[in-house]
Amino acid sequence: MKVGFIGLGNMGSEMALNLLHAGHEVTAYNRTASKVQALVALGAHAAAQAADACRGDVVITMLADDAAVEGVVFGEKGIIAGLGKGTIHISMSTISVALSEHLAAAHAKAGQRYVSAPVFGRPEAAAEAKLFIASAGQTDALDACMPLFEAMGQKTFRIGNNAPTANLVKLSGNFLIASVIESLGEALALVSKAGVDRHQYIDLLTSSLFASPVYKTYGGLLADGKFTPAGFGAPLGLKDVRLTLTAAETLRVPMPLASLLRDRLLALIATGGEQLDWAALGSLAAKDAGVGG
Ligand SMILES: NC(=O)c1ccc[n+]([C@@H]2O[C@H](COP(=O)([O-])OP(=O)(O)OC[C@H]3O[C@@H](n4cnc5c(N)ncnc54)[C@H](OP(=O)(O)O)[C@@H]3O)[C@@H](O)[C@H]2O)c1
Repeated sequence: MKVGFIGLGNMGSEMALNLLHAGHEVTAYNRTASKVQALVALGAHAAAQAADACRGDVVITMLADDAAVEGVVFGEKGIIAGLGKGTIHISMSTISVALSEHLAAAHAKAGQRYVSAPVFGRPEAAAEAKLFIASAGQTDALDACMPLFEAMGQKTFRIGNNAPTANLVKLSGNFLIASVIESLGEALALVSKAGVDRHQYIDLLTSSLFASPVYKTYGGLLADGKFTPAGFGAPLGLKDVRLTLTAAETLRVPMPLASLLRDRLLALIATGGEQLDWAALGSLAAKDAGVGG
Protein backbone atom coordinates (compact mmCIF):
# COMPACT_ATOMS: atom_id res chain seq x y z
CA MET A 1 0.00 0.00 0.00
CA LYS A 2 0.99 3.64 -0.36
CA VAL A 3 1.34 4.92 3.18
CA GLY A 4 2.12 8.33 4.62
CA PHE A 5 3.78 8.21 8.03
CA ILE A 6 3.85 11.27 10.28
CA GLY A 7 5.91 11.26 13.48
CA LEU A 8 9.30 9.56 13.56
CA GLY A 9 9.94 9.51 17.32
CA ASN A 10 11.00 6.50 19.39
CA MET A 11 7.97 4.54 18.21
CA GLY A 12 7.16 5.93 14.78
CA SER A 13 10.68 5.50 13.37
CA GLU A 14 10.52 1.74 14.08
CA MET A 15 6.94 1.34 12.89
CA ALA A 16 7.62 3.12 9.61
CA LEU A 17 10.68 0.94 9.09
CA ASN A 18 8.58 -2.20 9.48
CA LEU A 19 6.11 -0.91 6.90
CA LEU A 20 9.02 -0.48 4.49
CA HIS A 21 10.34 -3.96 5.32
CA ALA A 22 6.90 -5.40 4.57
CA GLY A 23 7.04 -3.88 1.08
CA HIS A 24 4.75 -0.88 1.52
CA GLU A 25 5.61 2.40 -0.16
CA VAL A 26 6.22 4.90 2.65
CA THR A 27 6.26 8.69 2.47
CA ALA A 28 7.41 10.10 5.80
CA TYR A 29 7.04 13.49 7.47
CA ASN A 30 8.55 14.63 10.76
CA ARG A 31 8.65 18.09 12.35
CA THR A 32 12.42 17.74 12.75
CA ALA A 33 13.16 16.95 9.11
CA SER A 34 16.57 15.36 9.72
CA LYS A 35 14.90 12.30 11.27
CA VAL A 36 13.40 11.38 7.88
CA GLN A 37 16.83 10.82 6.32
CA ALA A 38 17.47 7.39 7.85
CA LEU A 39 14.22 6.12 6.33
CA VAL A 40 14.89 7.76 2.98
CA ALA A 41 18.21 5.91 2.84
CA LEU A 42 16.20 2.70 3.12
CA GLY A 43 13.76 3.57 0.35
CA ALA A 44 11.15 5.89 1.84
CA HIS A 45 10.14 9.22 0.27
CA ALA A 46 10.47 12.43 2.27
CA ALA A 47 7.50 14.78 2.67
CA ALA A 48 8.17 18.48 3.24
CA GLN A 49 4.74 19.05 4.81
CA ALA A 50 2.20 16.81 6.49
CA ALA A 51 -0.11 17.26 3.49
CA ASP A 52 2.58 15.80 1.21
CA ALA A 53 2.34 12.54 3.16
CA CYS A 54 -1.38 12.33 2.37
CA ARG A 55 -1.29 11.33 -1.29
CA GLY A 56 -1.50 7.56 -0.79
CA ASP A 57 -4.14 5.09 0.45
CA VAL A 58 -3.59 5.81 4.13
CA VAL A 59 -1.82 8.28 6.40
CA ILE A 60 -0.64 7.23 9.86
CA THR A 61 0.07 9.61 12.73
CA MET A 62 2.34 8.57 15.62
CA LEU A 63 2.90 11.86 17.48
CA ALA A 64 3.58 12.83 21.07
CA ASP A 65 0.28 14.26 22.25
CA ASP A 66 -2.98 16.05 21.46
CA ALA A 67 -1.30 19.35 20.58
CA ALA A 68 1.01 17.66 18.06
CA VAL A 69 -1.84 15.73 16.44
CA GLU A 70 -4.09 18.81 16.29
CA GLY A 71 -1.34 20.85 14.66
CA VAL A 72 -0.60 18.22 12.03
CA VAL A 73 -4.24 17.41 11.27
CA PHE A 74 -5.86 20.85 11.29
CA GLY A 75 -2.89 23.01 10.24
CA GLU A 76 -2.81 24.88 6.93
CA LYS A 77 -0.82 22.17 5.13
CA GLY A 78 -2.19 19.45 7.34
CA ILE A 79 -3.98 16.16 6.96
CA ILE A 80 -7.57 17.39 6.64
CA ALA A 81 -6.46 19.71 3.86
CA GLY A 82 -4.29 17.10 2.13
CA LEU A 83 -6.22 13.83 2.35
CA GLY A 84 -8.43 12.69 -0.55
CA LYS A 85 -12.04 11.63 -0.15
CA GLY A 86 -12.41 8.10 1.20
CA THR A 87 -8.75 8.01 2.23
CA ILE A 88 -7.98 6.79 5.74
CA HIS A 89 -6.24 8.53 8.63
CA ILE A 90 -5.00 5.97 11.17
CA SER A 91 -4.32 7.72 14.45
CA MET A 92 -1.90 5.57 16.48
CA SER A 93 -0.71 8.12 19.06
CA THR A 94 -2.02 7.95 22.62
CA ILE A 95 -4.40 10.92 22.56
CA SER A 96 -7.48 12.03 24.46
CA VAL A 97 -10.88 10.52 23.87
CA ALA A 98 -12.19 14.04 23.22
CA LEU A 99 -9.66 14.72 20.43
CA SER A 100 -10.41 11.34 18.90
CA GLU A 101 -14.12 12.26 18.83
CA HIS A 102 -13.21 15.58 17.20
CA LEU A 103 -11.05 13.83 14.59
CA ALA A 104 -13.80 11.32 13.78
CA ALA A 105 -16.27 14.16 13.20
CA ALA A 106 -13.83 16.32 11.19
CA HIS A 107 -12.79 13.47 8.88
CA ALA A 108 -16.41 12.44 8.35
CA LYS A 109 -17.27 16.03 7.43
CA ALA A 110 -14.38 16.10 4.94
CA GLY A 111 -15.49 12.77 3.38
CA GLN A 112 -12.39 11.01 4.74
CA ARG A 113 -12.21 7.84 6.86
CA TYR A 114 -10.79 7.68 10.37
CA VAL A 115 -9.44 4.75 12.35
CA SER A 116 -8.12 4.88 15.85
CA ALA A 117 -5.35 2.37 16.56
CA PRO A 118 -3.21 3.16 19.60
CA VAL A 119 -0.63 0.57 20.56
CA PHE A 120 0.72 -1.35 23.53
CA GLY A 121 4.46 -2.06 23.55
CA ARG A 122 7.64 -0.04 23.95
CA PRO A 123 10.12 0.92 21.18
CA GLU A 124 11.82 -2.50 21.39
CA ALA A 125 8.47 -4.17 20.65
CA ALA A 126 7.88 -1.67 17.85
CA ALA A 127 11.27 -2.55 16.35
CA GLU A 128 10.41 -6.25 16.37
CA ALA A 129 6.90 -5.66 14.93
CA LYS A 130 5.47 -7.06 18.15
CA LEU A 131 3.09 -4.28 19.11
CA PHE A 132 -0.43 -5.01 20.31
CA ILE A 133 -2.80 -2.77 18.41
CA ALA A 134 -6.16 -1.67 19.85
CA SER A 135 -8.16 -0.61 16.80
CA ALA A 136 -11.64 0.81 16.30
CA GLY A 137 -13.49 2.32 13.37
CA GLN A 138 -15.82 1.39 10.55
CA THR A 139 -15.44 -2.24 9.42
CA ASP A 140 -14.45 -1.43 5.83
CA ALA A 141 -11.74 0.96 7.01
CA LEU A 142 -10.40 -1.52 9.58
CA ASP A 143 -10.34 -4.26 6.94
CA ALA A 144 -8.29 -2.00 4.66
CA CYS A 145 -5.78 -1.28 7.45
CA MET A 146 -5.12 -4.89 8.43
CA PRO A 147 -2.05 -5.43 6.17
CA LEU A 148 -0.44 -2.39 7.79
CA PHE A 149 -1.28 -3.54 11.31
CA GLU A 150 0.16 -6.96 10.50
CA ALA A 151 3.43 -5.31 9.44
CA MET A 152 3.72 -3.38 12.73
CA GLY A 153 2.20 -5.63 15.36
CA GLN A 154 1.85 -9.18 16.63
CA LYS A 155 -1.90 -8.91 17.26
CA THR A 156 -4.65 -6.47 16.39
CA PHE A 157 -7.76 -6.21 18.53
CA ARG A 158 -10.91 -4.81 16.93
CA ILE A 159 -12.83 -3.00 19.62
CA GLY A 160 -15.81 -1.78 17.60
CA ASN A 161 -17.05 0.83 15.17
CA ASN A 162 -16.66 3.85 17.42
CA ALA A 163 -13.03 4.96 16.96
CA PRO A 164 -12.62 6.89 20.27
CA THR A 165 -13.37 3.71 22.23
CA ALA A 166 -9.89 2.44 21.28
CA ASN A 167 -8.35 5.56 22.86
CA LEU A 168 -10.24 4.97 26.09
CA VAL A 169 -9.10 1.35 26.18
CA LYS A 170 -5.50 2.38 25.54
CA LEU A 171 -5.59 4.98 28.32
CA SER A 172 -7.06 2.45 30.74
CA GLY A 173 -4.18 0.12 29.91
CA ASN A 174 -1.55 2.75 30.61
CA PHE A 175 -3.26 3.54 33.91
CA LEU A 176 -2.80 -0.15 34.80
CA ILE A 177 0.87 -0.10 33.76
CA ALA A 178 1.51 3.00 35.91
CA SER A 179 -0.19 1.23 38.81
CA VAL A 180 2.16 -1.74 38.39
CA ILE A 181 5.24 0.51 38.25
CA GLU A 182 4.24 2.31 41.45
CA SER A 183 3.26 -0.83 43.41
CA LEU A 184 6.29 -2.77 42.21
CA GLY A 185 8.50 0.15 43.27
CA GLU A 186 6.98 0.11 46.74
CA ALA A 187 7.40 -3.68 47.09
CA LEU A 188 11.01 -3.44 45.87
CA ALA A 189 11.78 -0.67 48.35
CA LEU A 190 10.40 -2.86 51.12
CA VAL A 191 12.35 -6.02 50.36
CA SER A 192 15.57 -4.35 49.23
CA LYS A 193 15.75 -2.30 52.44
CA ALA A 194 15.74 -5.63 54.27
CA GLY A 195 18.61 -6.85 52.10
CA VAL A 196 16.81 -9.00 49.52
CA ASP A 197 18.52 -8.96 46.11
CA ARG A 198 16.37 -6.94 43.70
CA HIS A 199 17.01 -9.10 40.61
CA GLN A 200 16.36 -12.29 42.55
CA TYR A 201 13.11 -10.81 43.83
CA ILE A 202 11.92 -9.80 40.35
CA ASP A 203 12.91 -13.23 39.07
CA LEU A 204 10.79 -14.86 41.80
CA LEU A 205 7.78 -12.68 40.98
CA THR A 206 7.96 -13.03 37.23
CA SER A 207 8.59 -16.78 37.38
CA SER A 208 5.53 -17.38 39.54
CA LEU A 209 2.31 -15.39 39.99
CA PHE A 210 3.40 -12.27 38.07
CA ALA A 211 4.65 -13.85 34.84
CA SER A 212 3.40 -11.09 32.57
CA PRO A 213 5.17 -8.77 30.13
CA VAL A 214 4.50 -5.65 32.21
CA TYR A 215 6.04 -7.09 35.39
CA LYS A 216 8.96 -8.50 33.41
CA THR A 217 9.73 -5.28 31.53
CA TYR A 218 9.30 -2.85 34.41
CA GLY A 219 10.67 -5.25 37.03
CA GLY A 220 13.85 -5.51 34.95
CA LEU A 221 14.15 -1.73 34.54
CA LEU A 222 13.55 -1.14 38.24
CA ALA A 223 15.96 -3.82 39.39
CA ASP A 224 18.63 -2.37 37.08
CA GLY A 225 17.74 1.21 38.02
CA LYS A 226 18.09 1.95 34.30
CA PHE A 227 15.93 4.91 33.29
CA THR A 228 17.92 6.40 30.39
CA PRO A 229 17.61 6.59 27.49
CA ALA A 230 13.87 6.99 27.96
CA GLY A 231 11.96 4.51 25.80
CA PHE A 232 8.75 6.08 27.12
CA GLY A 233 9.42 9.45 28.70
CA ALA A 234 8.00 10.46 32.09
CA PRO A 235 6.15 13.49 30.58
CA LEU A 236 4.34 11.15 28.17
CA GLY A 237 3.36 8.96 31.13
CA LEU A 238 2.00 11.97 33.01
CA LYS A 239 0.07 12.93 29.88
CA ASP A 240 -1.57 9.50 29.76
CA VAL A 241 -2.63 9.51 33.41
CA ARG A 242 -3.97 13.04 32.97
CA LEU A 243 -5.97 11.95 29.90
CA THR A 244 -7.29 8.94 31.83
CA LEU A 245 -8.50 11.24 34.60
CA THR A 246 -10.11 13.60 32.09
CA ALA A 247 -11.97 10.72 30.44
CA ALA A 248 -12.96 9.45 33.89
CA GLU A 249 -14.31 12.84 34.89
CA THR A 250 -16.34 13.06 31.68
CA LEU A 251 -17.83 9.64 32.36
CA ARG A 252 -18.28 10.42 36.09
CA VAL A 253 -15.96 7.62 37.19
CA PRO A 254 -13.87 8.28 40.32
CA MET A 255 -10.36 6.82 39.96
CA PRO A 256 -8.55 7.58 43.22
CA LEU A 257 -5.52 5.52 42.27
CA ALA A 258 -5.13 7.45 39.00
CA SER A 259 -5.19 10.71 40.98
CA LEU A 260 -2.38 9.40 43.18
CA LEU A 261 -0.35 8.31 40.15
CA ARG A 262 -0.72 11.74 38.61
CA ASP A 263 0.86 13.31 41.70
CA ARG A 264 3.62 10.68 41.85
CA LEU A 265 4.53 11.31 38.19
CA LEU A 266 4.43 15.02 38.81
CA ALA A 267 6.80 14.54 41.78
CA LEU A 268 9.15 12.53 39.57
CA ILE A 269 9.22 15.23 36.91
CA ALA A 270 9.52 18.05 39.46
CA THR A 271 12.56 16.42 41.06
CA GLY A 272 14.72 15.92 37.98
CA GLY A 273 12.90 13.14 36.15
CA GLU A 274 11.86 15.09 33.04
CA GLN A 275 14.25 13.18 30.76
CA LEU A 276 13.84 9.78 32.43
CA ASP A 277 11.77 6.79 31.39
CA TRP A 278 8.47 6.67 33.28
CA ALA A 279 9.75 3.46 34.91
CA ALA A 280 11.58 5.87 37.27
CA LEU A 281 8.19 6.40 38.91
CA GLY A 282 8.95 3.11 40.66
CA SER A 283 12.17 4.49 42.12
CA LEU A 284 10.40 7.16 44.19
CA ALA A 285 9.41 4.67 46.89
CA ALA A 286 13.03 3.61 47.37
CA LYS A 287 14.08 7.26 47.73
CA ASP A 288 11.27 7.85 50.26
CA ALA A 289 12.57 4.82 52.18
CA GLY A 290 16.16 6.02 52.10
CA VAL A 291 17.40 3.08 50.04
CA GLY A 292 19.31 3.23 46.72
CA GLY A 293 16.83 3.84 43.87
N1 LIG B 1 7.41 5.08 23.72
C1 LIG B 1 6.55 4.16 24.09
O1 LIG B 1 6.91 3.19 24.79
C2 LIG B 1 5.11 4.23 23.64
C3 LIG B 1 4.34 3.07 23.68
C4 LIG B 1 3.00 3.13 23.27
C5 LIG B 1 2.46 4.34 22.85
N2 LIG B 1 3.24 5.48 22.84
C6 LIG B 1 2.61 6.72 22.39
O2 LIG B 1 3.02 6.90 21.03
C7 LIG B 1 3.17 8.30 20.76
C8 LIG B 1 4.61 8.58 20.29
O3 LIG B 1 5.48 8.18 21.35
P1 LIG B 1 7.08 8.23 21.18
O4 LIG B 1 7.64 7.51 22.35
O5 LIG B 1 7.45 7.84 19.80
O6 LIG B 1 7.32 9.79 21.39
P2 LIG B 1 8.63 10.65 21.03
O7 LIG B 1 9.82 9.78 20.85
O8 LIG B 1 8.67 11.74 22.03
O9 LIG B 1 8.27 11.26 19.57
C9 LIG B 1 7.27 12.23 19.47
C10 LIG B 1 7.00 12.55 18.01
O10 LIG B 1 6.00 13.60 17.95
C11 LIG B 1 6.56 14.73 17.25
N3 LIG B 1 6.04 15.96 17.82
C12 LIG B 1 6.02 16.32 19.13
N4 LIG B 1 5.42 17.51 19.29
C13 LIG B 1 5.06 17.93 18.03
C14 LIG B 1 4.40 19.07 17.54
N5 LIG B 1 3.96 20.03 18.35
N6 LIG B 1 4.19 19.14 16.19
C15 LIG B 1 4.60 18.15 15.37
N7 LIG B 1 5.24 17.04 15.78
C16 LIG B 1 5.46 16.93 17.11
C17 LIG B 1 8.06 14.60 17.41
O11 LIG B 1 8.70 15.35 16.41
P3 LIG B 1 10.22 15.86 16.59
O12 LIG B 1 11.09 14.71 16.14
O13 LIG B 1 10.33 17.04 15.74
O14 LIG B 1 10.41 16.17 18.08
C18 LIG B 1 8.21 13.08 17.25
O15 LIG B 1 8.11 12.71 15.89
C19 LIG B 1 2.79 9.04 22.06
O16 LIG B 1 1.44 9.41 21.99
C20 LIG B 1 3.01 7.98 23.13
O17 LIG B 1 2.20 8.22 24.27
C21 LIG B 1 4.55 5.43 23.20
